[in-house]
Amino acid sequence: MIQQLLVFLAVTTAYTVAYVPSFLPEHLAEYSHSVVDDSTKATCDTTMLNQCTLAFYNQFAPGPVPFSNETVFQMALQQYLNVQGVDGWANIKTWMNTLVTCVGGQQAYFNCYNWTGLMTAWNINDLTAKQWNVRFLSLDYDCGPGYPVLIQNFYCIQGVAMHEGPVIQQCVANFTAAQTNQPSMTCQNIVNYLTCVEYPYITHCGPAAGGLVCHGERIAYYVYNPECASQAQLHCQGAPGKK
Ligand SMILES: *[C@@H]1O[C@H](CO)[C@@H](O)[C@H](O)[C@H]1NC(C)=O
Ligand SMILES: *[C@@H]1O[C@H](CO)[C@@H](O)[C@H](O)[C@H]1NC(C)=O
Ligand SMILES: *[C@@H]1O[C@H](CO)[C@@H](O)[C@H](O)[C@H]1NC(C)=O
Repeated sequence: MIQQLLVFLAVTTAYTVAYVPSFLPEHLAEYSHSVVDDSTKATCDTTMLNQCTLAFYNQFAPGPVPFSNETVFQMALQQYLNVQGVDGWANIKTWMNTLVTCVGGQQAYFNCYNWTGLMTAWNINDLTAKQWNVRFLSLDYDCGPGYPVLIQNFYCIQGVAMHEGPVIQQCVANFTAAQTNQPSMTCQNIVNYLTCVEYPYITHCGPAAGGLVCHGERIAYYVYNPECASQAQLHCQGAPGKK
């Protein structure tokens, strides 16, 4: 449990600071229901998954996909954005459209990058698989409903991530302390953490940017603590794509 939370924090913190925002779209939740209702199988063609992921990765980095280490993927993406700036996102959006089509559409995309399937497909442990799951859900949001806000606020959000490190660290410290004192209140503690992290972005960049970053954190929250998913709806106000 503690280890899981530490990983959660490591992911979300790196996520904010490195700035690749995102969130779990509401339509994902609806989507998983419709899978059950329609009795359709949550299938993924692993051969296509591997081919398409490689083609996507090779758009910004040469060589084989670093399956066993998602950090290498994140760093390559970050490096690409450091060079290209905000314009790089237009290319990533195009490549994402290609990727989704390549694996067989939006439903296949969610099935394929679900961490439970990735563990087998890529022969990786659950923590690494969850990192990949978070990454591809994030990219899907950033290149979907989050895209206009992302483009408009890219440099502002990046600036906050760079200059408000101590504030964000304080949010992490508060969360850690809350978990120690009130371990049974994990979901509420995470909600407080999301509110805390969103705040500097709202102040400096505006509510839509705050919501975008908050939803980025929420993806990790959803993957690592799915039992808290219903409470996640309480927050990330002003985020794009929210009904
Ligand atoms: C993953 O790659 C990064 C960057 O090269 C490295 O720092 C880290 O130690 C690697 N992690 C593992 C578990 O191998
Ligand atoms: C991932 O797959 C498992 C097993 O098929 C399923 O129970 C779970 O709901 C899926 N998660 C998402 C986010 O679709
Ligand atoms: C952290 O918690 C303390 C004590 O509850 C509170 O005063 C402070 O405002 C919190 N810091 C942040 C950044 O939320």
